[in-house]
Amino acid sequence: MKNSIIWAAALFMTLSARAQTTSAMSDTDQKVDSLLSLMTLEEKIGQMNQYNGFWNVTGPAPQDGDAADKYEDLKQGRVGSMLNVRGVEEVRKVQKIAVEESRLGIPLIIGFDVIHGYKTVSPIPLAEAASWNLEAIERSAQVAAAEAAASGINWTFAPMVDISRDARWGRVMEGAGEDSYLGSQIARARVRGFQGSDLSDPLTVAACAKHFAAYGFAIAGKDYNTVDIGTATLYNEILPPFQAAKEEGVRTFMNAFNDLNGIPATGNTFLQRDILKGDWQFEGFVVSDWGSINEMIPHGYARDGKDAAYKAVTAGSDMDMESYHYLNHLPALVKEGKVDEALIDDAVRRILKVKFELGLFDDPYRYCDPEREKEVIGSEEHQQAVLDMAKKSIVLLKNENKLLPLKKEGLDIALIGPLAADKTSPLGSWRIAADDETAISVLEGLQQYADNELTHEQGVKLVEGQPSFTMETRINTTDRTGIEEAVAMARDKDVVIMVLGEHGFQSGEGRSRTSLDLPGLQQELLEAVYEVNKNIVLVLMNGRPLAIEWADENIPAIVEAWHLGTQSGNAIAQVLYGDHNPNGKLPMTFPKSVGQVPIYYNYKNTGRPEIPAPDLVFWSHYIDESNEPLYPFGYGLSYTDFEYSNLKTSGATMARDGALNVTATLTNSGDVAGTETVQLYIRDLTGSRTRPVKELKKFSQHMLQPGESVTVSFELTEEDLKFYTANNTWEAEAGDFKVFVGGSSDKLLETEFTLSE
Ligand code: BGC
Repeated sequence: MKNSIIWAAALFMTLSARAQTTSAMSDTDQKVDSLLSLMTLEEKIGQMNQYNGFWNVTGPAPQDGDAADKYEDLKQGRVGSMLNVRGVEEVRKVQKIAVEESRLGIPLIIGFDVIHGYKTVSPIPLAEAASWNLEAIERSAQVAAAEAAASGINWTFAPMVDISRDARWGRVMEGAGEDSYLGSQIARARVRGFQGSDLSDPLTVAACAKHFAAYGFAIAGKDYNTVDIGTATLYNEILPPFQAAKEEGVRTFMNAFNDLNGIPATGNTFLQRDILKGDWQFEGFVVSDWGSINEMIPHGYARDGKDAAYKAVTAGSDMDMESYHYLNHLPALVKEGKVDEALIDDAVRRILKVKFELGLFDDPYRYCDPEREKEVIGSEEHQQAVLDMAKKSIVLLKNENKLLPLKKEGLDIALIGPLAADKTSPLGSWRIAADDETAISVLEGLQQYADNELTHEQGVKLVEGQPSFTMETRINTTDRTGIEEAVAMARDKDVVIMVLGEHGFQSGEGRSRTSLDLPGLQQELLEAVYEVNKNIVLVLMNGRPLAIEWADENIPAIVEAWHLGTQSGNAIAQVLYGDHNPNGKLPMTFPKSVGQVPIYYNYKNTGRPEIPAPDLVFWSHYIDESNEPLYPFGYGLSYTDFEYSNLKTSGATMARDGALNVTATLTNSGDVAGTETVQLYIRDLTGSRTRPVKELKKFSQHMLQPGESVTVSFELTEEDLKFYTANNTWEAEAGDFKVFVGGSSDKLLETEFTLSE
């Protein structure tokens, strides 16, 4: 470790010299500075370069560069980070080259997409968001971090905090849905879970808030597409979860593929320098998205690689993921005086600081203990945590005549659907480290929790073969041969459980859809089975809201089970058999038809919100579809019933420096215990900019026994009423507000108050 000795000596000298002069500087900052003073320009730029490992490419592989060059670059100190290298053995190999064979021995930071679990897979993030349970979400991120860190990884590219209102966009599965308040709370919980309270703890990882910014507003829900929105939407809807992540101490940000109002996010100074590093004073570093520096060329924003490197670094992108343009062009740009070396120093300082915080300089192999890897990954404790998360993520959409829960014995059940016995789809998209076929299927879960007669048919067969980057759907679109058998089997059964939806890789990056129907022949299967047996429980598995209007009209019980991860089948069985009373609430609106998209609860009223007369067309609506969603944001049923009453505020006005107490009575009026998520919304009736008809501002969860009541209380302050005003300030404006409390965004008690001048 000759190299570590070089910089340790330099560090000692710098620290002694600085001791009297810069007492304000932190110890880590001083260490960073002393190391920086030893680095050549090439070594500094090396820290800003991130290479992909040699397998598991998560984007299009660059043409120039092969494995051999990458090893040489590691030795030359031309690499600061790698992604997609995992397992202590592999990580140790690359770390050893960086630490023992490069001149200064600076350790690599190893990144990976730990999006919803590592080997033990949690529900997809959209599903977790449906739990509205911040503790469970934090715990789930903690489990993911522990497993990844035990496998040599020290940085996750999560949480993805992009708000989206477009179910066509495949990446909605990765976020927390459509609402920026819920999204902000969840962003905080995930950052806490991943990072813990001490970044150098070998069971935590640095987190990354992505994709900065506005990626979820791609036009027409088409991935990577143009984003064109106003600043009010940017500040009110898109930025809050990013800012919340920053406030929670997230150590890195990732920029985005999209352009925003004509400027690619990766080259966007307004986003990265003015807002993130300026207004918010973010001190961590920004990594580009995969090849996004290079993508500024096809965007038509950069002439060539050199121009792209110039624009990205100037705009505040600190690390280049797999474009190679920093490595190839920044040295010349600095030497030619086009890029100030101070910009490079700033980027490198940020990167080194996170490495110090992770403890990598104390022990570059601290994440590489093979014993810990064996112990931590897949532990029973982790299985229990993801099972708990999975149960809490399930949303009961319909339950006519209390068909659910099912009895545990004496029933003759048909289990039908391409996803019923599938052990891969429940893992969902973005679970690179988990092996196919490792989820508990619904079939396995049902067998485990009851003694009923159970027969199974796929009905619509899965297409053979493993999912890949090119073959997104394995749900059959042509083969009807299984339908008849399934119908015959269903005919005289007591109950039919149908497990339908999207294959695990039918959502996620690059998987936008123009249809939100059940893919392939599944709708046909559902209708055919319904013809012979109407006693159907539909279990949906999907990565996005689906338009299932027919099912809602005809099928008596519908359970939204998303892609729930490793413990999927157990969680679903526990809900179907009533061992767990479901309490999930939708984090994203379900449309009646794809033509309503984007559809979201916090829309603006418009100047023509209501039908003026039954036969007039001149109001804001469609002539062939209602304005109502199929299932609204915040909606979700329980096996018990909840009633709301007695909504009150502590006064008619709120003073700017005061608070308003809002209370309501919640009663469990059904006959089993259950948990309810109580939601508080406001409406700012008149503003310097038009305001949404409702905005979520608070929520809390309450477990009540049958017949039990509780007074639920929330405190509102001026802070909760702020928005991006016509003066481009973040302020609350005096005037009248409505306040609503209830169990779903469409079914609320309401009252009013005034914010005084
Ligand atoms: C995605 C990022 C991801 C990166 C690295 C990109 O294609 O947009 O979210 O972190 O790949 O895998």
